[in-house]
Amino acid sequence: MKKHILLLPCLLLFIQCSVPVKKADAPVPQGAEAYILAKAERAEHKSAEAVGTHYAVSTQGIFATQAAKKIFAQKGNIIDAAVAVSFAIAVERPHSTGLGGGGFMLFHEGKTKKTYAIDFRERAPLLATEKMFLKADGTADSNLSQNGIMSAGVPGMVAGLIEIHKRFGKLPLSKVIAPAIDLAENGFPVYPNLKNALDNKQELLKKDPAAREIFLDNKEKAWPMGHILVQKDLAKTLRKIAKNGKKIFYNGEIGDAFVKFFADQKGLLSKKDLLGYQVKWREPVKGNYKGFEIYSMPPPSSGGIHVVQFLNQLENDNLKEKGLLSTTSINLAAQSLQAAFADRAEYLGDPDFVNVPTKGLTDKEYAARRRKEFSETTARPSTAVGHGFVVPPHESTQTTHFSLMDDQGNAIASTQTINGQMGASMVVPGTGIVLNNEMDDFSAKPGASNLFGAIGTNANAIVPKKTPLSSMSPTIVMKDGIPKLAIGAPGGTRIISCVAQSILNYIEFNVPLYESITMIRYHHQWLPDVLDIDPPGPRPEVLRDLERMGYKVQIREVPCSVMAVAHEDKILKGAADPRDIGTSVAN
Ligand code: DON
Repeated sequence: MKKHILLLPCLLLFIQCSVPVKKADAPVPQGAEAYILAKAERAEHKSAEAVGTHYAVSTQGIFATQAAKKIFAQKGNIIDAAVAVSFAIAVERPHSTGLGGGGFMLFHEGKTKKTYAIDFRERAPLLATEKMFLKADGTADSNLSQNGIMSAGVPGMVAGLIEIHKRFGKLPLSKVIAPAIDLAENGFPVYPNLKNALDNKQELLKKDPAAREIFLDNKEKAWPMGHILVQKDLAKTLRKIAKNGKKIFYNGEIGDAFVKFFADQKGLLSKKDLLGYQVKWREPVKGNYKGFEIYSMPPPSSGGIHVVQFLNQLENDNLKEKGLLSTTSINLAAQSLQAAFADRAEYLGDPDFVNVPTKGLTDKEYAARRRKEFSETTARPSTAVGHGFVVPPHESTQTTHFSLMDDQGNAIASTQTINGQMGASMVVPGTGIVLNNEMDDFSAKPGASNLFGAIGTNANAIVPKKTPLSSMSPTIVMKDGIPKLAIGAPGGTRIISCVAQSILNYIEFNVPLYESITMIRYHHQWLPDVLDIDPPGPRPEVLRDLERMGYKVQIREVPCSVMAVAHEDKILKGAADPRDIGTSVAN
């Protein structure tokens, strides 16, 4: 308990308390005034990169990073550490991820040089129907798809983590889950991002007795900052999983609690859904950029395809010469995002159900054709930007992120989620598990938009057992087969922009790791036709130029939080975005 009290000031004052850290005094690249400003504003109290030679870890939590450190100290391998982080972060960020959700993991195994893309995302229940989120008048019912029992897909987190651990882990599962159990049992102080989620969802949480019990005080108000949040039921659930493995979740007493709750609440999930849940091992999306190899998450994420497409479209522009955060760079990158998001709306869905032209969309010639459509002088209104034409292949083809690397050539990037803040805002009684609202990532109908404004399409229509389309983009960048950067972020559709830009900052503009992920970011998702730029915005003259070119610029947060680790000449570095409480550690 004592250590939690010691950590209280870190949480309340946003001071980074992870160890060991080193101030980055890397030289600031030319022409980057705007990011210096942003950095000074948000990061003066934050240390920069954790540096070591054996491993580097970056998570969106404090205790989750410490969990990885403990596992490495016990001679666990990188998978043990990643699974320990996953369970610990499920406790530390119950509003972002958890056992009621799902995720993706990219794992590059140094020994075999293989890269795995593991999909343990939620699936649509067997009883789901295409029109389940339409009101009688045919309009999309976003309340139904975003809140409550109908918004939940079949969880995959436990199946995924345990399958990955079984295949590659070294320590027993009980040791790997121990830090999460300890954290759930003893609690930790409520921090700003969690407090914000509890405030936003207070009215919904009030209606669900099990959620109310955990997340609200006896006046039904969100717990205040600094309150020690204890999750006893979750600790019990974790203990059961540590002892019995995934069986107890998919075909045992935890699953039974889910089935009973869904029956009581008139939801769709049944025992059959749990018994039928399958983790999918997929081929990563591959691309390359100026000699770097990019490995990222394939469909049912749109992330990997569009990160690769974004980079392909800009590869021949020599952005470095045009300047970091210059008008030209922002204009070209915004148009690159616009084109990618227009394609997302046309082509992307679960590849087990629709034909996704992955090869076509990540092809260099296709990127060159799309690049020719960009204007160097004016913004293109979204109405002037359509999807491109790619030949379909013949064969059918609130979230958190963490990244790890070790000195064995292994790298992991994993993004995990229950979707929106607090997911469905419901807790399965007796389990402490928050339900996801991932069903909102499907399209309720063509043209309707979801929580993140992503446009609904036929390819992403609801079908039983189908996986909702994602933007999560866990990515590993390699050079000559050796991992150089493992990166990813939460942030809905903004994930694609944030991950793609951070990669560009690091490998095109040679910005140091920490600055690559902290500097201001921009986001254009085709629809709405707006270019969002992080406060305080670019240099005033760049902003003026962009507006003159016709961009509808909004200076507002591009809400991602990027977690990255890098390998630079046998040195391993970790950096966590200071926009949240994330920390990094290296040894
Ligand atoms: O899979 C997706 O794209 C979304 N469910 C991710 C949600 C998310 O990142 C929310 N975080 N801010």
